[in-house]
Amino acid sequence: MSGAERILQSLRREPGQTCSGEELSKALGVTRAQVWKHVESLRGRGYEIEGAAGGGYRLAAVPDRLFPEELLQEPQTRWLGHTIHHLETTDSTNRVAGELAREGAPHGTAVVAEHQSAGRGRLGRSFFSPAHQNLYVSLVLRPELSISEAPPLILGAALAVGRCVAERLGGPERVSIKWPNDVLVDERKISGILMEMSAEATRVGHLVLGIGVNLNVPPESFPEEFRTRATSLAATLGEKTDRVDFTRRLFFTLEAVLDEHAAGGFEALRADFEGFYRMRGREIEVADLDGGVRVGRAGGICADGTLELHRPDGSLERIVAGDVTLRPGGVS
Ligand code: BTN
Repeated sequence: MSGAERILQSLRREPGQTCSGEELSKALGVTRAQVWKHVESLRGRGYEIEGAAGGGYRLAAVPDRLFPEELLQEPQTRWLGHTIHHLETTDSTNRVAGELAREGAPHGTAVVAEHQSAGRGRLGRSFFSPAHQNLYVSLVLRPELSISEAPPLILGAALAVGRCVAERLGGPERVSIKWPNDVLVDERKISGILMEMSAEATRVGHLVLGIGVNLNVPPESFPEEFRTRATSLAATLGEKTDRVDFTRRLFFTLEAVLDEHAAGGFEALRADFEGFYRMRGREIEVADLDGGVRVGRAGGICADGTLELHRPDGSLERIVAGDVTLRPGGVS
């Protein structure tokens, strides 16, 4: 932990109270001048630290930034997000995490950005990523899985996001998961997930699990083409969500989901996933990765995470990967 982080930790220990410079310098084993330097560096990062008469300091406000020192407060997850790379801006956190993974970054490494200039979505789409409003995070994972066992992890990530969104909304009723990777509120997309895999023969080498959640972006900021299809927590609740708090909750929830998956596969998550799965019986279109489109009625989710599609000719197909469009209308 850096000197500035230790100062922050001491100031947080006494919320609203003033810590004397003398105490801080003794506790940290540094000079008063060094304490002042660290306080100045924290101020430069947006922390409001008031100076009191006699040389004391009080933490008055923390910046709305996903800094590691904010995300890594106690209590902590067991393994997820212990190494955090925070970027003010980048093209895509998935690209950065992929590079770190190839350089050997450990399981659970997180890359968080305040802004993405080329946020990636599935099927070559882009992900709208305005600055300081939402969550854009990519995790490096090194699960012990064969290639065919990996796709359900994207469903697990959607489940974790769904739980956190539902918690914020006070219940799951308005939240649904559009198989495999979109989390919706009132049928509008609030989160997208992009998993990119690197294989070693038949095993997963590493995965990059990229998650974007629209937290505080106002609805009028969405580009015209998304405006009727996208939403945010702010648009739904009419108030801001604490981004640090949401991210920390997501890390805990995702860690628990990934641990459950490691122990019991997707089958261990299936019942909870189905709690958010409201597509059953809906008319859907599935675009496969080669551009072909199949229509039918959505069935259940199988033990391996594949989607059942009832075709108009009465046959049943299992969809392994694809992009689903819900046709208008409720469940029939
Ligand atoms: C989709 O909706 O098709 C998936 C969107 C995934 C967006 C996230 S934001 C963090 C991470 N970095 C990216 O470039 N993409 C993912």
